[in-house]
Amino acid sequence: MTIRSPSRIFVVGGTGAQGLPVIGALVADGKYAVRALSRDATSRRAKALLALGPVEIVEGSFADEDTLRRGFRGCDGAYINIDGFNTGEKTEMYWAIRSYEIAIEEGIKLFVYGNLDYALKKAGYDSRFRTGHYDGKGRIGEWILFQNQANRDRMAAAVFTTGPYMEMAISAMTPMSPTVEDGVVTWRVPLGNGTVPHVALADCGYYARWLFDHPERANGLDLEVAIEQVDYHKLAAAFEAVTGHPARYIDTELDAYWHGPLKNSADLPAGYNADPDDKSTMSFRDNFTGFWTLWKHGIVQRDYTLLDEIHPNRIRSVEEWLRREDQAGRDLGQGSLWDRVQPENLFKHPPLLKLVEDRRKGRL
Ligand SMILES: NC(=O)c1ccc[n+]([C@@H]2O[C@H](COP(=O)([O-])OP(=O)(O)OC[C@H]3O[C@@H](n4cnc5c(N)ncnc54)[C@H](OP(=O)(O)O)[C@@H]3O)[C@@H](O)[C@H]2O)c1
Repeated sequence: MTIRSPSRIFVVGGTGAQGLPVIGALVADGKYAVRALSRDATSRRAKALLALGPVEIVEGSFADEDTLRRGFRGCDGAYINIDGFNTGEKTEMYWAIRSYEIAIEEGIKLFVYGNLDYALKKAGYDSRFRTGHYDGKGRIGEWILFQNQANRDRMAAAVFTTGPYMEMAISAMTPMSPTVEDGVVTWRVPLGNGTVPHVALADCGYYARWLFDHPERANGLDLEVAIEQVDYHKLAAAFEAVTGHPARYIDTELDAYWHGPLKNSADLPAGYNADPDDKSTMSFRDNFTGFWTLWKHGIVQRDYTLLDEIHPNRIRSVEEWLRREDQAGRDLGQGSLWDRVQPENLFKHPPLLKLVEDRRKGRL
């Protein structure tokens, strides 16, 4: 059976850090129209989406069957990134499953699931590596690929596995925000000699578009992406090379890390609408301890040869990414990267993550 590229795509998470470049890439040349779900069609980001091209907004929550049905109906493609930092791990899994099931029922032809690595499984089911916002997606990514073995002719499905956005390493209020200490840009994170398979958001747009453009290859594929395995010594050296200003990475004990800028969040649920009294709910501390342990031990790898084939012009190194980002900031009148990470500037521009912009508030 030949699968046609869809033409109208329902996007969940469209106003987010990931969704914006994905929708931008989809509507850039008019091949696709997008219907984006948002809890607030009047928000700054929802309005920004409309300016990108043929985009309509459907108001509502993914935690609602009627809304999901309204979103899928009349579309033939779907890009579903369920926000686990809203729901928490358990609720995310339920709504991700229902999204897949309702998508089939409503006649979607190609379903792309915004995924993260199934950290716990990849680490051999060793609970030191448990990372709720990864495992919650990763389990469902596998479940979708399994369902797809039976359903692939009725609805094609692909899993799109990303990772920590590279942009987070130069942004405020993220697990890897930089500080400037005595004129030195400093990353204090518990990474040891490990590496983080950071992703470039612009390339996520390209890859997502590629999946919709190549439905036959996408069907049953888990496309796992990254720029490279980013060693933070290399990140600091690249920052120096690009900006001409000093930078360093300081390997930090977990205890010290949790007494740093994230101290006040450490005991909060990682998902802001998760029930703190539910014993399945992971705190920020537990969730991101697993996250850093994962990178420290090199559990997650990528097939860079495949990525070179799919995206020949992809960003291949952290230095290349920093150079592009430095230029992009200058073009936008935000100054150089060095200027942008200064404490007086770091909070000046709207945050990368919508969840930070919304101060971790909003309904399920
Ligand atoms: N941070 C990273 O490095 C990273 C990397 C890869 C994957 N992820 C995953 O991506 C997800 C978050 O997306 P993001 O990174 O783009 O974050 P973000 O910038 O905070 O965006 C969150 C998105 O989720 C939407 N959303 C939240 N709750 C919703 C609800 N109940 N109904 C409908 N839409 C809802 C928001 O839309 P409205 O507010 O407009 O409703 C927004 O589009 C998380 O599951 C996270 O684990 C994060």
